[in-house]
Amino acid sequence: MNIVSLFSGIGGLDQGFVHAGYDIIWANDFDKYAVQTYRANFRSPILLGDINAIPLESIPDHDVLIGGFPCQPFSMMGGGLGFEDARGTLFFRIAEIIEAKIQAGRKPRAIVLENVRSLKTHNRGKTFSVIANILQKDLGYIMYPMVLNSADYGVPQIRNRTFIVCFANHQAAFSVPKEVVLEKKLSDLLEHDVPEKYFLSERILPTILSNGTGGYNAKSEIDLPVARPLCATMGKMHRACQDNYVTQNGRIRRLTPRECARLQGFSDDFAIPVSDAQAYKQFGNAVTVNVAHAVAREVRKTLEKLGEWH
Ligand SMILES: C[S@@+](CC[C@H](N)C(=O)[O-])C[C@H]1O[C@@H](n2cnc3c(N)ncnc32)[C@H](O)[C@@H]1O
Repeated sequence: MNIVSLFSGIGGLDQGFVHAGYDIIWANDFDKYAVQTYRANFRSPILLGDINAIPLESIPDHDVLIGGFPCQPFSMMGGGLGFEDARGTLFFRIAEIIEAKIQAGRKPRAIVLENVRSLKTHNRGKTFSVIANILQKDLGYIMYPMVLNSADYGVPQIRNRTFIVCFANHQAAFSVPKEVVLEKKLSDLLEHDVPEKYFLSERILPTILSNGTGGYNAKSEIDLPVARPLCATMGKMHRACQDNYVTQNGRIRRLTPRECARLQGFSDDFAIPVSDAQAYKQFGNAVTVNVAHAVAREVRKTLEKLGEWH
């Protein structure tokens, strides 16, 4: 099954699909560092560039389209919850790509989109309504939206994400991927002999360990058994109430990029060819490989049942 991957980043979603037996034939991202990491880890090509500037005709025909697209508000100018409202956004570009394939008689059999958990409530539910209307009414897919937590798929990280799985064939019956018992703790994923730069200095410790301020008064906790969600800005070192810190050899430190990779389900042979700052951003942005794999397997099962897997 051929896949086109949009907003590929470093390919967390892509890895899950490759592990489940799909072939990535075309991928894209406009971040040169993410593309550098992708190229170091995938044999399949990735095109560096803004998806809005890539001609629709140059995107190859494919069976499945996947993409963890950035969440943006829609204008709601049209008010009809359709194409009009999504115009100019990255979701609209996805819809345009699919629409062009439908016009050419090459409708993708399945679509898998990933986004933040709050996609459903974003802009008081309007963002999700626009997306659902375009996928179902305008593009004619049957849609299965769900929120999946990485901790339910084998990695010790609370990470709730919305997945929207769509099928062209309305006979498709998709079930939420089966959860597995979490056997690992964050402490099981830690590296040993970690360089000094990851340990917190005495000067910064009080700030990092202080509770949140003002309206945001969250409790500062370190050494959590299941990590808080990794976020794209974790390179900046947030307080311990928003980020992950661990004690090792009696001292407190941040996570290393390799530990972040592990928390996102990447195996240790996944190359990290970029700076720490870029690596934190990339792993914070990634889809957890285990979750992607669970979804990819379930999509495969559905396509097999429909006789559409090849
Ligand atoms: C949430 S990340 C996707 C992560 C990816 N699915 C993974 O598992 O690693 C979103 C990606 O969209 C890319 N992006 C945002 N706007 C874009 C655009 N206009 N054209 C191409 N890529 C874009 C960003 O560079 C970022 O890597």
